[in-house]
Amino acid sequence: MGCACETKRQVITPERMAKLDAFLTTCKGKPGGLMPVLNESQKLFGCIPVEIQKKISQELKVPMAEIYGVITFYNQFSIEPKGDYIISVCMGTACYVKDAQKLVEQACEELGIKPGGTTEDYKFTLVETRCVGACGLAPVVLVNEDVYGRLTVKGGEMKDIISKY
Ligand code: FES
Repeated sequence: MGCACETKRQVITPERMAKLDAFLTTCKGKPGGLMPVLNESQKLFGCIPVEIQKKISQELKVPMAEIYGVITFYNQFSIEPKGDYIISVCMGTACYVKDAQKLVEQACEELGIKPGGTTEDYKFTLVETRCVGACGLAPVVLVNEDVYGRLTVKGGEMKDIISKY
């Protein structure tokens, strides 16, 4: 069975594999090579699917369990491809008490996905985050680098924000 990355979206292409091969060649046999290779893989493929993990494991002689552990520990890595736009709803205390949960529900309804999910066209991924440091603007939603604050549930701003992208 192939990885979702392969079937739903063409993530592993020959060009990207060639670039990874070239990068791996520069890291082989050197200590501390795993993080740079994972960073490069995430950049190249937009995620690090199992096939790529296996390749890295063989080439760098690092156990699969260790690679999986690193990927799941650091936020910057993902196993599944993410959408072009990451909608992050802050669930820190200041936002939570101002109905952030309801904003998540509105986004779920609008996008037809659950928190952590990605739309079928890979346009949006919805995530819940910890405090993003803009509590004065609570409740806060980020779309990639764009910040939206003082949102209301009744005003329907969530829907408006999504429709902008
Ligand atoms: S709690 Fe949401 S920005 Fe701080």
